[in-house]
Amino acid sequence: MCGIIGIVGTKPVAERLIESLKRLEYRGYDSAGVAGVVGGHVQRRRAAGKIKALEAVLADDPLVAKVGIGHTRWATHGGPSTRNAHPHTAGRVTLVHNGIIENYAELREMLKGEGRSFDSETDTEVIAALVDFELSGGKPPLEALKAALDKLSGAYALAVVIEGEDEFIMGARKGSPLVVGYGDGEMFLGSDALAVGPFTNRIAYLEEGDYVAIDRHQARIFDVHGQPVLREVRQVAASAALVEKGNYRHFMEKEIHDQPEGCQRTIAAYVDTLTDRTAIPGGIDFAALERIQIVACGTSYIAGLLGKYMIEQLADLPVDVEIASEFRYRQPALRGGSLVIAMSQSGETADTLAALRYCQAKGMQSAAVVNAAESTMAREVDVVWPIHCGPEIGVASTKAFTAQICVLTSLAVAAARARGRIDEAEEQRLVRVLLGAPRLIAESINLDSAVRAVAAEIAKAQDVLYLGRGPMYPLALEGALKLKEISYIHAEGYAAGELKHGPIALVDEQTPIVILAPFDSYFEKSASNMSEVMARGGQVVFITDPQGERQAPAGARVVMTAPGSDPLITPLVMSAPIQLLAYYVALQKGADVDQPRNLAKSVTVE
Ligand code: G6P
Repeated sequence: MCGIIGIVGTKPVAERLIESLKRLEYRGYDSAGVAGVVGGHVQRRRAAGKIKALEAVLADDPLVAKVGIGHTRWATHGGPSTRNAHPHTAGRVTLVHNGIIENYAELREMLKGEGRSFDSETDTEVIAALVDFELSGGKPPLEALKAALDKLSGAYALAVVIEGEDEFIMGARKGSPLVVGYGDGEMFLGSDALAVGPFTNRIAYLEEGDYVAIDRHQARIFDVHGQPVLREVRQVAASAALVEKGNYRHFMEKEIHDQPEGCQRTIAAYVDTLTDRTAIPGGIDFAALERIQIVACGTSYIAGLLGKYMIEQLADLPVDVEIASEFRYRQPALRGGSLVIAMSQSGETADTLAALRYCQAKGMQSAAVVNAAESTMAREVDVVWPIHCGPEIGVASTKAFTAQICVLTSLAVAAARARGRIDEAEEQRLVRVLLGAPRLIAESINLDSAVRAVAAEIAKAQDVLYLGRGPMYPLALEGALKLKEISYIHAEGYAAGELKHGPIALVDEQTPIVILAPFDSYFEKSASNMSEVMARGGQVVFITDPQGERQAPAGARVVMTAPGSDPLITPLVMSAPIQLLAYYVALQKGADVDQPRNLAKSVTVE
């Protein structure tokens, strides 16, 4: 989950390395570093903390090199210090790495036995030492790299420079993504299209086991067997390069406000507005399916849970949703007739990818709901169902979540129609409801000032409970996750019916309880839960709609009223208030909203 960039340029590269690292900071921001080859010698600059700290180091001690590599780190082995920051150097070899080397302890012992010593606690330094070990045995650089790769087990994307080699950078990929960028007399390596986006939109994706050498004019790519291979050079969408905050203070704030448009673009890709019918790309026969398995992590998992509620209710099609890190290791029993759907904003999350591959190996049809259309998952599935909300930069997912829900809602309606659960008129009605969602999401974002008012109080809490029933239960989970992620307040999401089975013991005057209760078929029960909580001194933040506001028991600390909506789109409409609540609480606490501590946007290690 670290970010990598490499440039073989015709002019100095330090500034461009930094520009690229800033785009990669979503992958980790514990430390950063660059290295360049100057007159055959490799020079490094590194700093703990964010890219800003590295910029300060470079301002004091500039790096003037036309060939260079850079890295932004999410710490796995060894704390986030300068000493552990990449690039790591051993002898003639300097490299940056994204991934985890599983046999590094063993290799380290072997290399120590050869008289080598180590400066850092990282697994990465072992790779550098291993490549150098092979080089000193007399192998040329590419052969030395390949010999080292063959000894590694685990995951890696690498960019490597060699002392004495002014003209080229080597790279390799297994388990972690790496792209080659083709510029004008310059070449690039990067973790993704975003990394090389400012320099080129012509990109080749390396495949598992590939390694590569780039110079100013070409990339020589080899497969896992050492055979030269060609990987297709594609033109990637310019949108990959568009990531600006505009007038917003944070990407998260901007992305919350982007949601009406992101949902509109996404819905437009799954319905036919001339006929008001669903139009799901990919030719999956929902009538023939016996079951859907959704695998995902984090917020994408919660979107998947909402998908289960909608698809089972509307289409009578069984859906299992599971956290990918559990699914991949527990040997789940799978049957024919199933479709696996990987839900992932990035399309790169290691556990989700592994769970997807597990299902594919069992012969299941596969689909991926992803934001990164060129991601590994998108490239490996039978059917890609992209979301169209644009690049999401804030670590806490917002607009990708609602766009994912738009796709799942469209699938639910399409499956219901294909399975004869609804007639064409009902399909058209539901599609029109869905098309109305962006306007209502925009209205619910207008709750901004009501949310701001309550945020100051919630910011004082140690614990917050979120309760909901039916589709509001996954949303309660998402509300709690958002708050935890960016404000560092402990929060739990519960199915409101579980209140009496434990969480009610937590209720006291200090614990705010956020109850999500639109006026739906669950409303009366949620209102009873609200009374039970208030009877025990609980401070209720009641998020509802106009009819719910009229019917709610008196005594809530705060009532927030989102627009009323058809139950089909209520989860979409109720998302903004919980996202805004987490956002404003985090602001109150002075937390780093876009880059919360310890987290990373894309988790490409398990
Ligand atoms: C990280 C991010 C979350 C995200 C999760 C899954 O934990 O911080 O926002 O929901 O990964 O990521 P994916 O890219 O697979 O949706």
